[in-house]
Amino acid sequence: MGWSEVLWIARVLGFLLLIPGVLGWGKEGHYAICKIAEGYLTADALAAVKELLPESAGGDLAAVCSWPDEIRHNFHWRWSGALHYVDTPDFRCNYNYCRDCHDSGGHEDICVTGAIYNYTMQLSSAYQNTNLKLLYNLTEALMFLSHFIGDVHQPLHVGFTGDGGGNSIKVRWYRRKTNLHHVWDDMIIDSALKTFYGKDLEIMIQAIQGNITGGWENDIAVWENCAHNDTACPDLYASESISLACKFAYRNATAGTTLGDDYFLSRMPVVEKRLAQGPGEGWSKEGHMMTCRIAQDLLGSEASEAVRNLLPPHVSGDLSALCTWPDQIRHWHKYRWSSPLHFIDTPDDACSFDYERDCHDPHGVEDMCVAGAIQNFTSQLTHYSEGSGDRRYNMTEALLFLSHFMGDIHQPMHVGFSSDVGGNSINLRWFRRKSNLHHVWDRDIVLTALADYYEKDMELLLEDIEGNFTDGIWASDVTSWEHCDDIHSCVTKWAVESIDVACKYAYKGVEAGTTLSDDYFNSRMPVVMKRIAQGGVRLAMVLNRVFGEPDEGFATPT
Ligand SMILES: *[C@@H]1O[C@H](CO)[C@@H](O)[C@H](O)[C@H]1NC(C)=O
Ligand SMILES: *[C@@H]1O[C@H](CO)[C@@H](O)[C@H](O)[C@H]1NC(C)=O
Ligand SMILES: *[C@@H]1O[C@H](CO)[C@@H](O)[C@H](O)[C@H]1NC(C)=O
Ligand SMILES: *[C@@H]1O[C@H](CO)[C@@H](O)[C@H](O)[C@H]1NC(C)=O
Ligand SMILES: *[C@@H]1O[C@H](CO)[C@@H](O)[C@H](O)[C@H]1NC(C)=O
Ligand SMILES: *[C@@H]1O[C@H](CO)[C@@H](O)[C@H](O)[C@H]1NC(C)=O
Ligand SMILES: *[C@@H]1O[C@H](CO)[C@@H](O)[C@H](O)[C@H]1NC(C)=O
Ligand SMILES: *[C@@H]1O[C@H](CO)[C@@H](O)[C@H](O)[C@H]1NC(C)=O
Repeated sequence: MGWSEVLWIARVLGFLLLIPGVLGWGKEGHYAICKIAEGYLTADALAAVKELLPESAGGDLAAVCSWPDEIRHNFHWRWSGALHYVDTPDFRCNYNYCRDCHDSGGHEDICVTGAIYNYTMQLSSAYQNTNLKLLYNLTEALMFLSHFIGDVHQPLHVGFTGDGGGNSIKVRWYRRKTNLHHVWDDMIIDSALKTFYGKDLEIMIQAIQGNITGGWENDIAVWENCAHNDTACPDLYASESISLACKFAYRNATAGTTLGDDYFLSRMPVVEKRLAQGPGEGWSKEGHMMTCRIAQDLLGSEASEAVRNLLPPHVSGDLSALCTWPDQIRHWHKYRWSSPLHFIDTPDDACSFDYERDCHDPHGVEDMCVAGAIQNFTSQLTHYSEGSGDRRYNMTEALLFLSHFMGDIHQPMHVGFSSDVGGNSINLRWFRRKSNLHHVWDRDIVLTALADYYEKDMELLLEDIEGNFTDGIWASDVTSWEHCDDIHSCVTKWAVESIDVACKYAYKGVEAGTTLSDDYFNSRMPVVMKRIAQGGVRLAMVLNRVFGEPDEGFATPT
């Protein structure tokens, strides 16, 4: 593990903690954070983490993220008790490292931010100089670091000295006697689990995952700055925490009060607020949702029923609710294989797609591209409907992957040039905002259209698109859009269309550093809308064939 892996771990943990304001803290909170973090580690960082974990963890960081809480009251570890928090002066609502970071005996650096510096330093220096590996117990350093980064984000771990961070403020949480610190450590999360997530931590983790998708790359940059500034971040997060403590935790929660729905429901949005402050930008979320909505509206009764049967109950039969799922899980360790399936890299400036030449992953493994993936999951679903479902495959996942990749293959920049990674490395401005060409086509054009013409209401845009292919400008084209003899030639045709549009419209006249605005938007918007419509119509066509009468199906390769 090199310095960069240590940083990566710290960044991932730090980033995750930016987000769910209330998730830092009790056992569930620490578990959730570490679980999510594991999914984002690079292969190298993950290998390093596994090497450091004690055997009892079974390779799972989340299993030991509460360890520092478990041992803090043992005699041998009592010194670590002061590392879980930092006390700030009463009612000042601010934090200062030099003033506040010490234990009750005045020993400097003994507080949660000091501990984060300490264990980051241990991990990084040991990996820069192997001799130091013997000096520190890096297993402990990793477990402490993961835990304390969680703690520093719990507002009341950066609370007032006089009340011990809310520990001495006795309150009731609904009927139960407790204290304010504990409310923020555990009770809010418990109530959220019961009220919104069927008591299932995994579902809550997935919900959080869903919310951070796509945006997390941007936050990594914040952590990079911190690292270059000699890790300024713990201080930043401590300042945020005490500010939130004053605004939300202490407010209206004096000793003896009973906290109930008002407090719970108004403090849950602290989560949402921190989310909104983060980038919060899904990855082409709207485009995928619309593709799936269009498709679902066009399903025949058999396909409609099959889709409902395959979807998990919590989405109430709405396919579009899960159409971005493949983006959400692509960085998880378990699903990393799916990452190359979202796109195709074609030779620079060739403006053509050749399945044999282009459909492979970076290591050259054949079929590992969005065109191959569509064939793959179509074929899996065909077996399902024939009742010969292969137990190796999860049909729900096959449906979600297929639905998502039908969107991706219609996004021109998902079939872009290799050297600019489908426009990702072409940095430019979209009106005033920094963006890149890939993102412009994934999302910016759609968002601008929504804002300018549809009152930011996706339903209105969707109605307009559907109107345009039922009896509007594209009405006579739909039959040719749907035409498909066999799935292999169809995926090839769709990818060819995309790279063609990429060359004629997306790349055309665009250089790194330019600012794209009205001219580009007005001329490209109709192209984007048409691709979304085509993706939806064609997804419906595929699902109708796969789940429809046997003689309507494709001859698919197995
Ligand atoms: C740093 O870590 C070492 C080893 O765990 C510990 O003894 C020391 O008290 C820590 N110091 C701070 C400031 O956290
Ligand atoms: C490092 O710490 C862990 C957890 O306390 C312990 O099990 C392990 O024996 C320690 N390793 C060394 C080399 O002291
Ligand atoms: C995800 O974001 C939505 C919309 O902002 C919000 O209502 C929801 O509470 C968030 N969920 C989690 C788990 O953060
Ligand atoms: C990093 O240091 C520079 C110059 O000292 C400062 O302007 C900047 O705000 C610092 N960044 C962070 C994240 O602290
Ligand atoms: C505190 O209570 C008052 C009176 O009930 C209410 O108006 C106010 O919104 C509450 N503030 C917060 C932050 O909950
Ligand atoms: C096909 O799907 C399986 C999982 O269901 C996956 O392991 C495999 O890599 C996929 N192949 C392609 C080309 O999509
Ligand atoms: C199929 O995948 C979904 C989503 O990952 C999961 O919730 C479900 O448990 C899986 N089903 C089976 C039978 O493994
Ligand atoms: C629908 O067609 C009209 C022209 O009849 C056009 O002005 C409008 O932009 C189209 N809407 C979409 C979403 O493509």
